Amino acid sequence: MTTQRPEMDLSRFPYLQGNYAPVLTESTFEEGEGGLRVEGRIPEQITGAFMRNGPNVAWQPDHYVYPVDGDGMIHAVYFKDGRVHYRNRWVRSKYFQVEEALGRACWGSHGKPHPVDEEAIALGGSPHPFKNPANTSVLFHGGNLFALFEAGFPHVLSSDLESAEEFDYHGVLQAGDGLTAHPKICARNGDLISNTQRFTEPYLTIQIFDKNGRHKRAIPVYGMHRRAMIHDIQLCGDYIVGLFAPAFPDIEAAMRGENPFIWEADRPTRIFAVHRDGGEPIWFEAPTFFSWHFCNGFQSGGKLYIDYIWMDSMPVSNELGTGVESQMRNMHRLTLDLASKAVTNEKVGPTYCEFSRADERRCGLSYRYGFAAAATHEWGESPNHAYNATIRYDMESGSSQFWDFGEGANAGEPVHIANPDSDREEDGFLMSYVTSPAEGAFLSILSAGDLTRGSLAKIHIPARVPNGFHANWMNGLTL
Ligand SMILES: [Fe+2]
Repeated sequence: MTTQRPEMDLSRFPYLQGNYAPVLTESTFEEGEGGLRVEGRIPEQITGAFMRNGPNVAWQPDHYVYPVDGDGMIHAVYFKDGRVHYRNRWVRSKYFQVEEALGRACWGSHGKPHPVDEEAIALGGSPHPFKNPANTSVLFHGGNLFALFEAGFPHVLSSDLESAEEFDYHGVLQAGDGLTAHPKICARNGDLISNTQRFTEPYLTIQIFDKNGRHKRAIPVYGMHRRAMIHDIQLCGDYIVGLFAPAFPDIEAAMRGENPFIWEADRPTRIFAVHRDGGEPIWFEAPTFFSWHFCNGFQSGGKLYIDYIWMDSMPVSNELGTGVESQMRNMHRLTLDLASKAVTNEKVGPTYCEFSRADERRCGLSYRYGFAAAATHEWGESPNHAYNATIRYDMESGSSQFWDFGEGANAGEPVHIANPDSDREEDGFLMSYVTSPAEGAFLSILSAGDLTRGSLAKIHIPARVPNGFHANWMNGLTL
């Protein structure tokens, strides 16, 4: 199936240029002539799907704020018996269906919202001015395949990506709840450790669902004076940790066409730790910093250890309409002493990196290797603001190694796929979409044990795969 769409004028938007530009075609490719070309050897022991979500505007926008705008599109490679199948599909949310029916954008940007017109509402579109673009991550839990966006409900997708439906966990989520796009799946019992955020107190509530997706517990996190930009949470043994950095959404300002986010640099960054069984949060305080993404965390000897991507401030602003992000990003380790409340915050390595990941079987537990998309050149000199490499940090020795995909390449979030025949992190595989000027788009499979071997396999895709956000491995999911 192929759907062609009209071209758009995206020249005003820096984050819709080059490989950030959307693809306007939904494609399906099998291996063979005119389709996928496999170079190297695909691991035959894995069955499932590698899927990545990302923003992919479907209709001409009049404003664009990275990273919150843009209709979610999933790029998926399914693996079975050593064979592969690729497809990309927009998330067919109600918003998408209404805009598709009318052939135009009906909801504005998160940085320039406008009232929704009667025609869209008559087709069943939400009158709320903010669209849930379902564009941030894609995750398989409790038998459901989810497209996630932190300021709205999740969407349940069919395994072939042809349908999407908003899901409220059978009434657990209430109007106004935004479910995080970064839940963690507990390696010990399969619980989904998630959270909702609201614009009324409690501004953040930890939500725990069991391995089958049944709601187990809601733990309100008190001690915040307003809703903040809290993008990620981390499971650390028995605790769940989050950052209350001075980054605040301001909807009233957004409605006036002003910056939808505020950064109050003179406030400290506060950190909460909540026991997963419930109770009051423990609060810590640190010199101001911001982060989008955790890597992993664990608990040992009365301390919590959290590895994450450090930034000095939040980069999102309306000014991104004329500029691009320039903040340094490094892997850091945060240590929280539960008794003394002491905090240390140490840099793990100097390399510019983002989209940090680890072996999911170690989520919340001690682990050895962290992975991330990395820039091996000086940031700012990067062509197309791209991550040209994948880095692996050895958290025990402090050493790192990386694989450089070449000049001008963009390598996305590296997802660790466990080798079903081994418990060792090193025996797994790292999958990420890569686009390079020399080779076009391909799914790279690196060895988690030795990145310097380069790609064990490349699945070349005869279409562009734009830069996107988060990916995951859907173990056992097939078409
Ligand atoms: Fe994220």
